[in-house]
Amino acid sequence: MEAGAVPGRLGRVLIARQEVAIRVADLGLAIRRDYAGRFPLFVGILKGALVFAADLVRAAGLPSSLDFMGVSSYGSAAQSSGVVRLTADLSVSIEGRDVILVEDIIDSGRTLAYLRRNLGTRHPKSLAACVLLDKVARREVEVAVDYVGFAIPDEFVVGYGLDHGGYYRSLRDVVVLDPNPAD
Ligand code: PRP
Repeated sequence: MEAGAVPGRLGRVLIARQEVAIRVADLGLAIRRDYAGRFPLFVGILKGALVFAADLVRAAGLPSSLDFMGVSSYGSAAQSSGVVRLTADLSVSIEGRDVILVEDIIDSGRTLAYLRRNLGTRHPKSLAACVLLDKVARREVEVAVDYVGFAIPDEFVVGYGLDHGGYYRSLRDVVVLDPNPAD
């Protein structure tokens, strides 16, 4: 979808805000336990992970730092070509750091695979990935995910950072976009 075009119509709520909050708190707690005594660097992947990353770092409640990277896939929005391009790089070195990649959603797995390869060459002490939504049925490449919020069906979802043509990122619930809206 072209940015600025009329957005799709909202369908049913897939994950209500209360469920999201509970699960994010769980993920934060798991990370807090796993990284006790360390000072991890959370890396949010723009733009979709902005909301999740902001909540996750607070849920973890660790002494930590937060940075962001931007990536985009070539090809149409509906069908990614699988070629991932870096649009904004980190502002800090990750050498020797415990890095936790934070993604809103994993679909084909190509973005996360690219990020793991890219960041892996920078010699972090460790590299983990935390993904809120996992569209398991869409996976094309195998990639390790250390923390998963929800496995979801193959439906287009928006909200809690996820968009359709730039719209709906600010919704508090994760909502299915109606594929056949009545006119
Ligand atoms: C989404 C998501 C991941 C990627 C996952 O980003 O944030 O980065 O797609 O798809 P994949 O597993 O098939 O690679 P999107 O392209 O929607 O950009 P945005 O985060 O800026 O909205």
